[in-house]
Formats: sequence, C-alpha cells, structure tokens
Amino acid sequence: MPEAVVALTGASGARYCVKLVQSLVEHGWTVNLIVTGTGAINLDLECQMTPEDLADHDLVNLEDNRNLAARSASGSARFDAYIVCPASGTTIGKIASGISDNLATRSALVAMKERRKLIIIPREAPYSTPHLRAMANLSEWGVVILPASPGFYHMPQTIEDLVDFVVARILDQLGIDHTLGKRWTGEEVES
Ligand SMILES: Cc1cc2nc3c(=O)[nH]c(=O)nc-3n(C[C@H](O)[C@H](O)[C@H](O)COP(=O)(O)O)c2cc1C
Repeated sequence: MPEAVVALTGASGARYCVKLVQSLVEHGWTVNLIVTGTGAINLDLECQMTPEDLADHDLVNLEDNRNLAARSASGSARFDAYIVCPASGTTIGKIASGISDNLATRSALVAMKERRKLIIIPREAPYSTPHLRAMANLSEWGVVILPASPGFYHMPQTIEDLVDFVVARILDQLGIDHTLGKRWTGEEVES
C-alpha cells in the first residue's frame, strides 16, 4: 500500500490539503499527516476543522510537528512521496536552506537526501525574491514546485472545481489514475 507524508503548513489554501488527503485515502494511500501551528490556524479559519478532524480516517496518521523522532523524520522509513500542501514561504525557505527544525521541514529534507518525490505547493501573492530564489533552487534539485494556481480553461463553477484542478495536478505527479476535474482534449479551441 503506498504511503505519503503530507505536511499542511501556514499558507492560505488548507482546502487543497483537505481534498488531497481525501483523494489519497480514496485511492488506498496511507497518509502520515503533519500540521504546523500556523497550518492549524488556517485549517480552522478556512475549513472550520482541526488537525484531528482531518486525520479522522483509518488510513491517516496524525504526527506531532514538534516530534523529530517521528517515523517520517528518518530516511530509513520508506515513503513513496512527500507533499507540502500548502507550503508557506517560511517552510520553503527553511527547506531550501537545509533547516529541519520541525517534522514538516525534516521530512521534506529526508525526501531530498533520499532522492524521493517531493512536491511543494506554494501559496503567496506576490512572491518575495528570497522565496522565488528558494523555489528555483529546489526545482533545480529535483523538487516539484506545483503552485496553487488553478487554471480557468475548464470553466470552473465552484470553489471545489478550483481546488480539484490543483489536487488533480498533484495526483498526476503521483501517478494516480483519477477522475478529478476535466482533462484537456485539444478540441476545446477551434483552429
Ligand atoms: C492567517 C494566516 C495566513 C497566512 N497566509 C500565508 C500565505 O498564504 N503564504 C505564506 O507564505 N505565508 C502565510 N502566512 C504566514 C506563515 O504562516 C508564517 O510565515 C509562518 O511562520 C509559517 O510557519 P510554518 O511554515 O511552520 O507553518 C499566513 C499566516 C497567517 C496567520
């Protein structure tokens, strides 16, 4: 059974993480969930949920962000993918600088040192130069930078449609065969 580490950090866009966790468990993935302190504030503000609410599933294991002895802090524990969703500029900057001072940053750096799939979903507007430079470095080092920037060409009608667009791109990166959102067929625009 595939296993992911999912870190919800203090950027806006907790809804993306809620949908991601739901989608992963629907596809039989086990999720090791980490929620930072500011991540929990955003989860409450935007989704009226606690980390425990989000982890209320047999396949979801809630980890303490302060516990650097947790399973996902070790490279010897093998996970199939690590996703930071949404990723704050602070967490991005720390990962790019090699700082692993909490479980969210430590597990991301474990993914990098073990050359495993790491997907980062930044959300900020506008981006500061330090965060842009950090993302460029991470991209060069093999990390997938997948911004929370939904497209509009599929004519979204609801916020859920916009959320699905971004989560669909994450599932694509994980090689999950899903039906979230519409795929571009090439026939939408008349030539
Ligand atoms: C309500 C709220 C919304 C925030 N939104 C963002 C955001 O969209 N993007 C961002 O990079 N930081 C945002 N921040 C700032 C981060 O939460 C802050 O930099 C924090 O130190 C991140 O820590 P963490 O990455 O460990 O969660 C927000 C903070 C709060 C309280």
